[in-house]
Amino acid sequence: MPNLLITGGAGFIGANFVRYWNEKYPNDSLVILDALTYSGNMANLSGLTDFSFFRGDIRDTSLVERLLHDHEVDTIVHFAAESHVDRSINGPDAFIETNLSGTHSLLKAAKSVWLDKGSGKPHRFHHISTDEVYGSLGPNDPPFSETTAYAPNSPYSASKAGSDHIVRAYHHTFGLQTTTTNCSNNYGPYQFPEKLIPLFIINCLTGKDLPIYGDGMNVRDWLHVEDHCRGIDLVLEKGRIGETYNVGGGAELPNVAVIDAICAGVDAAFEHDSQLGRRFPDAPAARGKKSEFLKTHIADRLGHDRRYAIDERKIREELGYEPVRTFEQGFQETLGWYLANEDWWRATMDGSYLKWMASNYSERARRT
Ligand code: NAD
Ligand code: TYD
Repeated sequence: MPNLLITGGAGFIGANFVRYWNEKYPNDSLVILDALTYSGNMANLSGLTDFSFFRGDIRDTSLVERLLHDHEVDTIVHFAAESHVDRSINGPDAFIETNLSGTHSLLKAAKSVWLDKGSGKPHRFHHISTDEVYGSLGPNDPPFSETTAYAPNSPYSASKAGSDHIVRAYHHTFGLQTTTTNCSNNYGPYQFPEKLIPLFIINCLTGKDLPIYGDGMNVRDWLHVEDHCRGIDLVLEKGRIGETYNVGGGAELPNVAVIDAICAGVDAAFEHDSQLGRRFPDAPAARGKKSEFLKTHIADRLGHDRRYAIDERKIREELGYEPVRTFEQGFQETLGWYLANEDWWRATMDGSYLKWMASNYSERARRT
């Protein structure tokens, strides 16, 4: 029976992973370590009881060693990170500290407990990373494979690239049993509303502008978070030690197409449910208008990567991975979740969130 330590388990993907694992493997023991930064939220774990939660920092090596030892942890699934590209442009330091030093601190603790004072038991350090480490593709370039050279462009992706290299080095040099997944853009329930899909759904509902960076033709490969969790599960079960696997959603779309789907989805939801107009009176759809009139092109993100795309042949052919949702299905479910969980997203939009949003978007308005 595995004992898992899940870092960042109160964040978007980590919490979805806890839910996924709890349902699929109810007898496993789950320990969550999360610093509860602005994007970490205990409400993401609401309704679950079967886990131990520790509020703490992955950079606290002795705390991590204690958790690994006391809970006889044999598997670390490492999600904790600073995760938003725009914040990394405004303040890169936290990204280097958490993503790079924090990952190294975790590796040191794992090496100490599992190898130096080790019990000889098999163990696994699974590192969650991003396709952004590979840089930006041109329109006709082949998608990123696991052998694509790293070329990170933002402080966020550079800090993740660095963390991937440290994980690799701890495997190669010390024999730590590691695996890494590099996934594409996730979406789904409990995603903090600073990222494109939840932010734009909420702005449609509250009648705020939809701030499109640049020409909106940047391409991302959208992956439903539960498909991502299934990919991680397969790598934990059957992945080869020391290997990396790319996980994609098979849904390469320009931002404008995603934004059109959000606008059309919200408009259709209001047509089908007359309650929505009363609940969200500021939405254009409440007055029979189209959400697309909220679209506003603003100054581009600095260094904005043009296109990401995933070649997922390795995880498919070796491990049998396949995303089960199309973007259309996954998006409808996600929209339904945000419509049904207004209390959750309103509670995330506190003073510090509003301050961040104002500074991020007013700075762009000045550059437009
Ligand atoms: P998130 O920002 O929603 O959650 C991050 C979590 O980490 C939060 O709960 C936060 O409190 C916690 N955390 C931050 N610093 C910490 C620290 N020093 N110690 C302990 N906990 C800390 O992020 P997410 O979207 O869930 O991303 C999870 C992982 O997946 C990250 O490693 C990210 O780089 C990677 N990833 C995300 C996406 C995406 O689309 N969201 C895509 C590719 C890769
Ligand atoms: P985001 O969700 O921040 O993910 P990432 O930068 O990791 O890909 O952004 C997805 C895309 O949407 C990206 O090309 C930037 C764009 N975007 C906007 O146009 N406006 C916004 O307000 C945000 C948050 C993102």
